[in-house]
Amino acid sequence: MIIKKETKDQKDQSCNLLQHQVIHELENERLYFEMASWCDHNNLPETAKFFAEHTHEERNHALDFMNHGLMQGIRVKFGPTKEMKSDYKDLMEVLEDSLAREKETSAMIQNMYEIAEKEKTFLITIAQKYIKEQLEEEQLFLSVLSLWKKCTGSKIDFEMEIGKVKSCGAHKRGALPQ
Ligand SMILES: [Fe+2]
Ligand SMILES: [Fe+2]
Repeated sequence: MIIKKETKDQKDQSCNLLQHQVIHELENERLYFEMASWCDHNNLPETAKFFAEHTHEERNHALDFMNHGLMQGIRVKFGPTKEMKSDYKDLMEVLEDSLAREKETSAMIQNMYEIAEKEKTFLITIAQKYIKEQLEEEQLFLSVLSLWKKCTGSKIDFEMEIGKVKSCGAHKRGALPQ
């Protein structure tokens, strides 16, 4: 793949896209901390753990995008992040919101990819990497939501199963044995 020398406008646009993505990922981290806190407060310690652990993923995404900029000599900054939703009607709302947020993130990455591809900028590789990453993220949160539905509203059953969601690979779609 030939990556042409970018014009100043293209570099500014790439820089803005990276900056927005870093902030968005940090807001994801913050949102999942809020969800973890809500779950803990509502006697769902295992679900709280799931969300708290997932914050690491989001932090790593933010740093990955940041490093991608730094490697190109672009200074990407950390903030400001906005205050995220912290009150929920019930667990279903938490789970639906988390999936919706992942879909929003996927759409941002898709937009980054389309611009990078059109302009042939240095964001192509990282956007491609995160299109794949987002597929996995969506699958994970989709499977958590399906688990809640399978547990037919039993918080006790859900709490017993949520810890296994990642390790048992239940969220993997497109994994038929060949
Ligand atoms: Fe992320
Ligand atoms: Fe995510």
